[in-house]
Amino acid sequence: MRTRAAVAVQAGHPLEIMEVNLEGPRPGEVLVELRATGLCHTDDFTLSGADPEGLFPAILGHEGAGVVVEVGEGVTSVKAGDHVIPLYTPECRECPSCLSRKTNLCTSIRATQGQGVMPDGTSRFSTLDGDPILHYMGCSTFANHTVLPEIAVAKVREDAPFDKICYIGCGVTTGIGAVIHTAKVEIGAKAVVFGLGGIGLNVIQGLRLAGADMIIGVDINNGKKEWGERFGMTHFVNPKEIDGPLVQHLVEMTRTPFDRIGGADYSFDCTGNVQVMRDALECTHRGWGQSIIIGVAPAGAEISTRPFQLVTGRTWKGTAFGGARGRTDVPQIVDWYMEGKIEIDPMITHRLKLEEINKGFEMMHAGESIRSVVVY
Ligand SMILES: NC(=O)c1ccc[n+]([C@@H]2O[C@H](COP(=O)([O-])OP(=O)(O)OC[C@H]3O[C@@H](n4cnc5c(N)ncnc54)[C@H](O)[C@@H]3O)[C@@H](O)[C@H]2O)c1
Ligand SMILES: [Zn+2]
Ligand SMILES: [Zn+2]
Repeated sequence: MRTRAAVAVQAGHPLEIMEVNLEGPRPGEVLVELRATGLCHTDDFTLSGADPEGLFPAILGHEGAGVVVEVGEGVTSVKAGDHVIPLYTPECRECPSCLSRKTNLCTSIRATQGQGVMPDGTSRFSTLDGDPILHYMGCSTFANHTVLPEIAVAKVREDAPFDKICYIGCGVTTGIGAVIHTAKVEIGAKAVVFGLGGIGLNVIQGLRLAGADMIIGVDINNGKKEWGERFGMTHFVNPKEIDGPLVQHLVEMTRTPFDRIGGADYSFDCTGNVQVMRDALECTHRGWGQSIIIGVAPAGAEISTRPFQLVTGRTWKGTAFGGARGRTDVPQIVDWYMEGKIEIDPMITHRLKLEEINKGFEMMHAGESIRSVVVY
């Protein structure tokens, strides 16, 4: 069949809107008509050429929602008409990683996904001249239709609006999951969130959901204060506007008359800046503080701290897709949204047509949007 897509022809160039060929699903695969897709920083990172693993030409996008059109041989868990969210972290439920129950990083199709092809080693997309176009993060949601492995779709309820739940395909789940799956934050906790963008705001609403008492947001952009407060932030710090070191300032804020040591129970890096990651670790509480790295750092960047920080009981952790098992946890997050436990609508600041997708990336660069969504 033919479908419309925004193709990343080469690094550092705007996406090109064109008709492309898409082959139908092979065994174990599903054809999905996407109804909406969000624009995430990771797409921008790859498009810019900064991603050392980025391959071109490719159809980017990994934050979508749509409807199953056709299923390949042997597919049993979804059928035509089902509403689904594509998963860049699949869940096969039979690889050593899935069976370990210790990680969400399913490894069953990892190698081919990283090469931009389906598990059988080939791409379903091609130009009208027949030249192959690669898949991206196993999703390619910047196309009106895409083909995905069965294990890379989460079936969700049919009354949920596509233009909102697409955000659950990455940003919402990453932020909320980091709180509930990775950190396992408990009621009454004190937390610091660094970077109040599309991810950090979801960490904040995850902390509110988990019952945290103190939610300190840190951002160098004062415009983010109001955004943070909208989702449950209790205190705001702009590192550029305080006297003295940021870590001491944060530790001081968390001190109580009883606990003169101070420090956050949990902190989250949502900036991708390695100096911020260090501050995030060091502002946590001696003895038990946990710092969760969510941000993706530039290629080759390294983190550092004094080992004493860990010897004295602080823990550094990282999280991908919020530690969520896609097929199991994503439908639940959709339910939470539909029940009003979490918010998405105010974070979707811009709705675009596919033809306007490059404008969405420009707004991301200018810091004008929290999330832009393309509606097909
Ligand atoms: N681990 C995962 O699974 C995963 C998933 C999605 C995105 N990410 C990553 O998460 C990060 C955040 O993504 P986003 O979409 O929220 O980005 P964003 O650009 O919307 O937000 C970043 C925020 O950080 C603030 N900031 C920048 N430098 C800062 C500093 N030194 N101190 C404090 N605040 C600072 C900015 O003002 C901005 O508000 C990115 O690195 C992205 O690649 C990770
Ligand atoms: Zn993403
Ligand atoms: Zn698996």
